Amino acid sequence: MKKSIKILGIETSCDETAAAIVEDGRKLLSNTLYSQIDIHKKFGGVVPEIASRNHIEKISGVIDDALLQADLTFDDIDAIAVTYGPGLVGALLVGVSTAKALSFALNKPLVPVNHIEGHICANYITFEDVKPPCVCLIVSGGHTHLVYVHDYGKYEVLGRTRDDAAGEAYDKVARTLNLPYPGGPQIDKLAQLGNAKAIDFPRAYLEKDSLDFSFSGLKSAVLNYINQCKMKDIPIVNEDVAASFQASVVDVLVDKTMLAVDKMKTDTLLLAGGVSANSELRRRFTEICDKKGIRLCYPDIALCTDNAAMIASAGYYGYMRRDRADMSLNAVPSLSLFSQV
Ligand code: KG4
Ligand code: ZN
Repeated sequence: MKKSIKILGIETSCDETAAAIVEDGRKLLSNTLYSQIDIHKKFGGVVPEIASRNHIEKISGVIDDALLQADLTFDDIDAIAVTYGPGLVGALLVGVSTAKALSFALNKPLVPVNHIEGHICANYITFEDVKPPCVCLIVSGGHTHLVYVHDYGKYEVLGRTRDDAAGEAYDKVARTLNLPYPGGPQIDKLAQLGNAKAIDFPRAYLEKDSLDFSFSGLKSAVLNYINQCKMKDIPIVNEDVAASFQASVVDVLVDKTMLAVDKMKTDTLLLAGGVSANSELRRRFTEICDKKGIRLCYPDIALCTDNAAMIASAGYYGYMRRDRADMSLNAVPSLSLFSQV
């Protein structure tokens, strides 16, 4: 019988200190996470220096918990996978240094993982049978990418944001409405009580057939609307602002993604990243994919936002294609998901 491969994944690219163990890229044996959200909330966003310090304090305990939860020891682990970019440099360095130390001390392979690829792989844990080729929309706090997944580790970037990421727009709009960080889930909830047609915010489609995105104009339009209301003493209905803003984001994401699905002639669509937890985004994609006969996948809510399970899954596929890093591995804060076909 083929021996199963168990990967320990480590993720510290932003404000979650996370470790997880995944078997054969698909089976979640443990998933532990220390979220720093409450620490950063009072600053209205992530403070990089504070994030790094908290990662240092928590990382060892989080890894111990991942082993405990899976009822395994380091001896049972085949390789260590770690996010080395993109993200905050100080935060990334904590994960990278820890993974290097473990790899050296245990004499186990070290597999470098791109955080964006990790988000895609969260779907492989939720759906054990889903396989490339497929189109994936990755929408998170730092990234908005439309990708064609030719095969594991083989990506063609079809489009990306030219300015703000979708999650960043959610967080910035939430801040103007005095909602706490992170704003995405807050807007999601508020929007359910509002009228999406109340305010006609812009939708940036860019050039004809472009698969790129732009959300900074929408963010400014919301800001202008709020300032105008304040100047003219018009009451601001937060629920309507949230619903109308969200409708603009979701319209563009759905239209461009479905254009990519048509263009690439695929029958499988994956959503990934923190914003893929959004209820309206899921509802709209479900509706259109049902109509068109496209298989739609999105990760369990806990695997949409940053976690180490997705890094362990991506690490498994990297391990199988012999991606290896040595002790010179460094954090790469601006690492992008290059087309690799
Ligand atoms: O993937 P993620 O944890 O971090 C990055 O890699 O950036 O994504 C975090 C982002 C934040 O901007 C957060 O506001 C957004 O995902 N988010 C949501 C929802 N849940 C999280 N945005 C909209 N609706 C949600 N339900
Ligand atoms: Zn992320």
